[in-house]
Amino acid sequence: MRSTDMLMHEHRIIEKMLNVLSNYSTKLEQNKRVQPAQLRTCVDFIRTFADTCHHHKEEGVLFAEMEAHGMPSNGGPVGVMLAEHEMGRNYVKGMARAIDDYENGVVNADKEVVKNAQGYIGLLSQHINKEDNILYPMANDMLEDMDTELVERFEAVEKKLGEGIHEKYEAIVDQLEKDSIS
Ligand SMILES: [Fe+2]
Ligand SMILES: [Fe+2]
Repeated sequence: MRSTDMLMHEHRIIEKMLNVLSNYSTKLEQNKRVQPAQLRTCVDFIRTFADTCHHHKEEGVLFAEMEAHGMPSNGGPVGVMLAEHEMGRNYVKGMARAIDDYENGVVNADKEVVKNAQGYIGLLSQHINKEDNILYPMANDMLEDMDTELVERFEAVEKKLGEGIHEKYEAIVDQLEKDSIS
């Protein structure tokens, strides 16, 4: 498997989470109760799987190598990706805060959860689209010679986070997918 194929596989798992967030948002908009614990599991998934596991492979390895091979970091496509990761982190922060408020019965906290969740969904779906169709093909051309090394470095990122992290979070998102439509 090529390094960018590994990242694209992770995108498919992250898209499942976007689907989960969309389902929970719909429930909240219909004034249905959603367990705060389930919403917190979404936040944990995004922070661990999407932001630490996936984004660290991009920021610390793939994008860093693209820069080292002549791609400018500010202004260019890599700079845009990095800025979007940061915007994503802000939405997740807002979501986490709103979930606490929702649990504590703060008025309109459900709307705040939905606002941040929808912001994150919109941001990430177009972000993933750009990476799959523009950034990764560029990386494949630029870094063809070092792909084996990139794959090894991705594996090292995973190892650092703990064995089985992938399987664990894939199982979590599958479970949430069922819960979010029940
Ligand atoms: Fe990214
Ligand atoms: Fe990505």
